Amino acid sequence: MFDAKKFVENSLKDIRKIVGEHRVISACSGGVDSTVTTVLVHKAVGDRLVAVFIDDGLRREGEPEFVVKTLKSLGIRTKFIDAKKEFFAVFKGKTDAEEKRKAFRDKFYKTLGKAAKEEQIEFIAQGTIKADIIETVKGIKSQHNVLEQIGISPESYGYKILEPLKELFKPDVRKVARELGLPKEISERMPFPGPALSLRVLGEVTPEKIAVVRKATEIVEDETKALGTFQNFAVLHNDKATGIKEGKRVYGNIVTVRIVDSEDAVTAKAGKVPHKILMRIAERITGEIPSVVRCLYDLTDKPPATIEFE
Ligand code: XMP
Repeated sequence: MFDAKKFVENSLKDIRKIVGEHRVISACSGGVDSTVTTVLVHKAVGDRLVAVFIDDGLRREGEPEFVVKTLKSLGIRTKFIDAKKEFFAVFKGKTDAEEKRKAFRDKFYKTLGKAAKEEQIEFIAQGTIKADIIETVKGIKSQHNVLEQIGISPESYGYKILEPLKELFKPDVRKVARELGLPKEISERMPFPGPALSLRVLGEVTPEKIAVVRKATEIVEDETKALGTFQNFAVLHNDKATGIKEGKRVYGNIVTVRIVDSEDAVTAKAGKVPHKILMRIAERITGEIPSVVRCLYDLTDKPPATIEFE
């Protein structure tokens, strides 16, 4: 049985030993993994930690404000970096899923590396968990925060990596979050990928497409709050389809809704969602987002599909 209390005790000792008198930066997206990592490191080294929230323009509605507010309420020194323009620039012309992931990863580490230099910091803490490493090493995807395990030296970005959760799976990370007394909004937070909404815009990522998928995501999350499923989201397709808006035939966007049940994200089942909820989501997505004419529901388990589309 996993003992969260013991894990926290050992982790604090380990972090202090590794970090010594150095300073640490922690990239916190507000998800359970990166927030638990940030709080653990803060407990271990206090104000020698600075948390960084990178606004890459790919976050969900209200997320940047929520994360910064949460970190500050936990007494953690927090730096906000507005990098929206730079992230959209690296996605320009990229349509291949792996190329997009790599572009995100490179921009993410360069942005962090720059912040680390400014803050004269040696260590970057990040919330990599076991499933991230397993899937990246297997080649299922190149998880954005897995470097050493795939032979990329973190030193090439200018720092050392601290990954206190890399032996844990998601359910145990949540236990640690509860043990640390984090608010439910964090400890029970639905998983959300590091590259954020960029994985949910098929084809080239642009601010306009992100705005569409952001609104669709908000609707899906709002309508599925009570379901208790593992992950609920929307994906914007690259293709278009014919539909009718304001009495006229138009060629518009297609959105797929994905709702899955899972324990640890390594396998997943397509969610069995009441038809009424699905219909309400479709009505709202096509009604509230002018460019969307069609809404689909994904019935595929993992495997053979992955949870995300990219
Ligand atoms: P897949 O799509 O591989 O996703 O079945 C499994 C879980 O991992 C999340 N995911 C990511 N999380 N960086 C992350 O931090 C990534 O690059 C990434 N790709 C997928 C996904 O949302 C799901 O919970």
